[in-house]
Amino acid sequence: MENLDLDTKIELNNGVKMPVFGFGTFRAKSGKETYNSVSHALNVGYRLIDTATRYKNESDVGKAINDSGISRDEIFVTTKLWNSDHGYSSALKAFDTSLKKLGLSYIDLYLIHWPVKGLRMDSWRALKELLQKERCRAIGVSNYTINHIKEITDDDGVIPAVNQVEFSPYTYQKELLDFLNSKNIKLEAYSPLTKGFKLKDPKLIEIAEKYSKSSAQILLRWALQKSIIVIVKSSHPQRIEENANVFNFQISSDDMLILDSFDENLRTGWDPTTMTS
Ligand SMILES: NC(=O)c1ccc[n+]([C@@H]2O[C@H](COP(=O)([O-])OP(=O)(O)OC[C@H]3O[C@@H](n4cnc5c(N)ncnc54)[C@H](OP(=O)(O)O)[C@@H]3O)[C@@H](O)[C@H]2O)c1
Repeated sequence: MENLDLDTKIELNNGVKMPVFGFGTFRAKSGKETYNSVSHALNVGYRLIDTATRYKNESDVGKAINDSGISRDEIFVTTKLWNSDHGYSSALKAFDTSLKKLGLSYIDLYLIHWPVKGLRMDSWRALKELLQKERCRAIGVSNYTINHIKEITDDDGVIPAVNQVEFSPYTYQKELLDFLNSKNIKLEAYSPLTKGFKLKDPKLIEIAEKYSKSSAQILLRWALQKSIIVIVKSSHPQRIEENANVFNFQISSDDMLILDSFDENLRTGWDPTTMTS
């Protein structure tokens, strides 16, 4: 993608347009921390906001969105179905609860948070119904491996628009990315900064110094240059601004290859490859 900026959107497989760069809220404490950080992110220009039932901050995210004065259709909101809410009717109920907490009339993207064993196809049926009834604009999954995606794509017509997974040079899931691209499913990168664990890696710092950028900016720019969607979290105003300042430089193809080589299958959270049938 050329000429990327904070307003750049990509078209999902159902025609809905989604910002390529967004703001995450995992571990943003409910109350002021979430409200202030989401408000600041919106002020800075982030237009994709990611939350989840699991994060217990949907009310604060919704309040920040509703208080922002920005038109609802300019903000793309994602939330997720948590593991304990799987199953057809439980998923429908959980969606209603999320919507109420967010104080919104629709969700832009509703995701299955984890490929929970046993019930995930029942939950998917509920998500398809929510889409069909226009309660959300797109549906997708998170932490799905190639096998989990095949289970859905082999089922019937509706395929996920997005698979949100851990993705950074240290968790460079190239096979999954290629597979998703072949199915026209967008990969959305979470923990693009490795939750901070690798920001002091000397080989990353060396590249950052070359571009006079921070390690965080290099990791975010790397993800953007892979033509995927990327969401990043911070509760600090200065970092929220720093992370959004990744649209005025380009990483060379040689340095992209060096970053690709950092892959070590890092998992900063649970590893979904253990979730089978
Ligand atoms: N679907 C899933 O299972 C799943 C899993 C994980 C995450 N996610 C989503 O993806 C979003 C992003 O992932 P993430 O929150 O796990 O990790 P991340 O964005 O890679 O990293 C966030 C961490 O890095 C720190 N940080 C942020 N900007 C920084 C900077 N410029 N310099 C130094 N440190 C910085 C933050 O600290 P401060 O806040 O203190 O600045 C925070 O501890 C989440 O918030 C969530 O919305 C989804």
